[in-house]
Amino acid sequence: FFAEEAHRPLAGRRAIVTSGPTHEPIDPVRYIANRSSGKQGHAIAAALATLGADVTLVSGPTRLPDPPGCTVVAIETAREMLAACAAALPADIAVCAAAVADWRVDGASDRKLKKDGGRPPSLALTENPDILATLSRPGEGRPALVVGFAAETGDVLAYATAKRARKGCDWIVANDVSPGTGTFGGSDNTVHLIRADGVESWPTMAKDAVAARLAEAVAEHFAGK
Ligand code: CTP
Ligand code: CA
Repeated sequence: FFAEEAHRPLAGRRAIVTSGPTHEPIDPVRYIANRSSGKQGHAIAAALATLGADVTLVSGPTRLPDPPGCTVVAIETAREMLAACAAALPADIAVCAAAVADWRVDGASDRKLKKDGGRPPSLALTENPDILATLSRPGEGRPALVVGFAAETGDVLAYATAKRARKGCDWIVANDVSPGTGTFGGSDNTVHLIRADGVESWPTMAKDAVAARLAEAVAEHFAGK
């Protein structure tokens, strides 16, 4: 029993992890998306499951296999991601690693847009719901620990610290996605863990290793260390 406890410190805890991009339809055959691979989010879901958590991974379209030991909910749009996260509550832990499209097409067409000899269509955009901010909202049912990501360029720590306050989440994992860092789509990540009591900068490591270390930090948080 004690060995089990030591290796699976998150046993009995429920976690929601978002991962991947979202796809926002323009018409039945076209969409707006981004270059997120889902690698970091999927790795976090797997790492939390390894530590014993009951993980629901809510993921946009990726090329990745389902991580072992997780319940996977496949979605396409930001609104579907929010609904799937809400349906997965209650949870102790939420980690929002998805690259959610900030905007969707307002009034996407249910018919394929045609080149009818006229001008190209213009797309009116409207803002998507913020899943991290919604999960972070104080109140009954808020997960005890909500973790967001901040992919930034320039003054990464300043932007990410401001983002933590704005979103109302507990921790922010900040990374520098300037050209040349290879973070987006790559296998390595250089991150800073921003919490209420300060910043911890981690060395560059594989996304799987970032995930394992983050899961350990989550386990220590719940162990009260
Ligand atoms: N996020 C989310 N829902 C959104 C947008 C972002 O859950 N609609 C989450 C991401 O999963 C990430 C965090 O919020 O954990 C920060 O995402 P980011 O795109 O950096 O933040 P934004 O508030 O969209 O700000 P920006 O204008 O810098 O894109
Ligand atoms: Ca954004």
